[in-house]
Amino acid sequence: MSRVGLRIAGGFGLVVACLVCASLALAEEGEDRFADADLDNAVDINEVCAGCHGEYGQGGKDGEYPRLAGLPAAFIARQLKLFRSRDRENLAMVEHTEHRQMPDSDVRDISAFLAAIELLSQLPPVDDTAADFNAYERLMATKRVVQIPRADGDPVAGERLYAKECASCHGRDARGRERDAVPMLAGQYTGYLQRQVDKYIDKRRVHDPSDPDAEELLAAFTAEELNDIFAYISILDD
Ligand code: HEC
Ligand code: HEC
Repeated sequence: MSRVGLRIAGGFGLVVACLVCASLALAEEGEDRFADADLDNAVDINEVCAGCHGEYGQGGKDGEYPRLAGLPAAFIARQLKLFRSRDRENLAMVEHTEHRQMPDSDVRDISAFLAAIELLSQLPPVDDTAADFNAYERLMATKRVVQIPRADGDPVAGERLYAKECASCHGRDARGRERDAVPMLAGQYTGYLQRQVDKYIDKRRVHDPSDPDAEELLAAFTAEELNDIFAYISILDD
């Protein structure tokens, strides 16, 4: 074989090797990985996260800190890695996601832990005169309730737009898709969603890495249309 041939063969080998490593990396992102999560470790990590996102990942300050509970584990892991590589800006979190602070095994553990937390959208009725009524437990339960206030806008117009433009990925009821790491929009704070849409439009975040048209999609809406979509999403958890 000529030297050029060798070089090409060598280069091809490298490409094959990279394809293999890329698919391994993808497999790592898959659901199986999260099954090995060490949840005791996650409880420790969560003490840091809770300072901003709440102890149940319920979020806070009306969406300044997003809700994390119930997001797909692969989505959470992806965001943490994007913060770490600074491909997604987040001054508040950057120090917590550095490799030294958060190796990949910690990313796996905390992502699986937060994904598994279920929040309520309202407190179940309770008889506070019942013998087994426990005021402390009741108080703790209120922390697990996230009820998104109804946002301004026309939810009927919003529903039409949502069904046509968003449901194919985020799901008909906006609960997201665990399998494809698409986040739920229902149950997330409106102000937070609005901020993210602005970031997508300004290209400070990538909407759907597998679909370059997803950004254009958001940029094509008027502010009023976006408000209508948010109004619809905000009533889905009522
Ligand atoms: C000092 C406050 C702070 C701490 C501590 C913190 N976060 Fe955050 N986090 C934020 C803020 C602020 C945002 C929203 C950034 C934005 O608007 O894009 C965020 C966003 C996120 C998101 C993106 C959610 C989404 O739906 O897009 C994830 C995931 C996340 N944090 C996970 C964690 C985890 C896990 C920990 C603990 C290791 C943690 N955060 C600790 C402030 C914090
Ligand atoms: C082609 C599929 C697709 C379509 C259509 C789509 N999205 Fe998304 N969306 C995604 C994916 C994938 C993500 C997660 C991106 C990431 O990992 O950072 C996302 C994330 C988001 C987020 C950020 C949520 C968070 O917690 O950080 C918002 C807000 C959002 N989409 C709004 C919308 C709206 C509104 C529509 C309809 C107008 C829409 N999307 C249509 C795929 C899609």
